[in-house]
Amino acid sequence: METEKALGRCDKAKYDKPVLRELIAESSKTIRLSRYNIEHRCEIKVVPRYPTSFGGRFFMEVKKVLNLEMPTVETDRLILRPVRLEDAEDMYAYCSDDEVLKYLWFEKHDSVEFTRYIIDKLFLNRKDVGMPEAYAIVLKDEQKMIGTIDVNQVYFHEVAVIGYVIHRDHWGKALVLEALEALIPVLFHHCGFYRLEINHCADNVASGRVIEKAGFVLEGRFRKRKKERDGHRADYLYYGLCKDDELALERYGKDQYEKTTRNKV
Ligand SMILES: CC(C)(COP(=O)(O)OP(=O)(O)OC[C@H]1O[C@@H](n2cnc3c(N)ncnc32)[C@H](O)[C@@H]1OP(=O)(O)O)[C@@H](O)C(=O)NCCC(=O)NCCS
Repeated sequence: METEKALGRCDKAKYDKPVLRELIAESSKTIRLSRYNIEHRCEIKVVPRYPTSFGGRFFMEVKKVLNLEMPTVETDRLILRPVRLEDAEDMYAYCSDDEVLKYLWFEKHDSVEFTRYIIDKLFLNRKDVGMPEAYAIVLKDEQKMIGTIDVNQVYFHEVAVIGYVIHRDHWGKALVLEALEALIPVLFHHCGFYRLEINHCADNVASGRVIEKAGFVLEGRFRKRKKERDGHRADYLYYGLCKDDELALERYGKDQYEKTTRNKV
C-alpha cells in the first residue's frame, strides 16, 4: 500500500519539483509491502529515465528485497535453525574430515578456532551481504548439530543457489533430503525467491540422488567445469526448481511452509 502511495506521488513528481525533491531525499528508504500475506521488504529509488537536460522524467524503481531472517523449522527428525558460534565444535567434526570435503570447495579446517573464525566471517554475516541466514541441521532427539543447509549465492533478488553438508556418521539416512524438503517452502514463501538452483559434481552420486528425489529438474551438464582435489576435471550437473512448477505447487506449497515452520520472524 505504501508502495502504491509512493508510486502515485512519483507520478505527481513528474510535474511538481518540490515533490520530486522530497522523493529523492527519501530514495533508498526501505518500506514494507504486504503481498500474499507475507511481508516483503522493498527498496524504492527515484531514478532518471532520460537525462533531465532533455526535459526527462523520473520514475520510481521498486526493487524487491528478500526476507533474510530465517524461521526455525521442525521436521520429523530435524530442527533447522540459524548457525551459531556455539556450533563450532560440531561443525569442526565434519569440516576436518577429508571424505566429507571430497566434493566441497572449501579448505579443510585444522582447528576448532579456525571453524569459529569461519562461522564468524562466513556464516553470521549472511544478512549483511544480502543472503538468508544459513541453517544448522540439528538432530531433534539428541539436540546435536550435524551439518548445514543454506543459500550460498543469490542472483537477481529472486534466484537462490543451495548447498548442504552433513557429518559422515549420518550419511545414507535421507536426512539431507528431509532438510531440503523443509527448506524449499521457506525459500519460496518466507524469503520470496522465485527460482532455486543446486549443482553438484557428477561423481557425487549421493548428492544427485538427493536433488532428484526433491524434485529438481536437471537442466544441464557443464563439462570439465572444475578441477577436483585429486586433480581430474569433473563435469557438473545443474538443476532448477521454480515456484510455479507443477511439482513445486503440489509439493512445496504454502501449507507445507506453515506445517514445518515455527517462531516465524
Ligand atoms: C551428499 C550428501 C549430502 C547426501 O546426503 P544423505 O542424507 O546421506 O543422502 P541420502 O541418505 O538421501 O542418500 C542419497 C542416495 O545416495 C546413496 N548414498 C548415501 N551415501 C552414499 C555413499 N557414501 N556412497 C554412495 N551412495 C551413497 C543412498 O543410498 C541414496 O541412494 P538411493 O536414493 O538410491 O536410496 C551427504 O553424503 C554429504 O553431506 N556429503 C558431503 C558433502 C557433499 O558432498 N555435499 C553436496 C555438495 S553438492
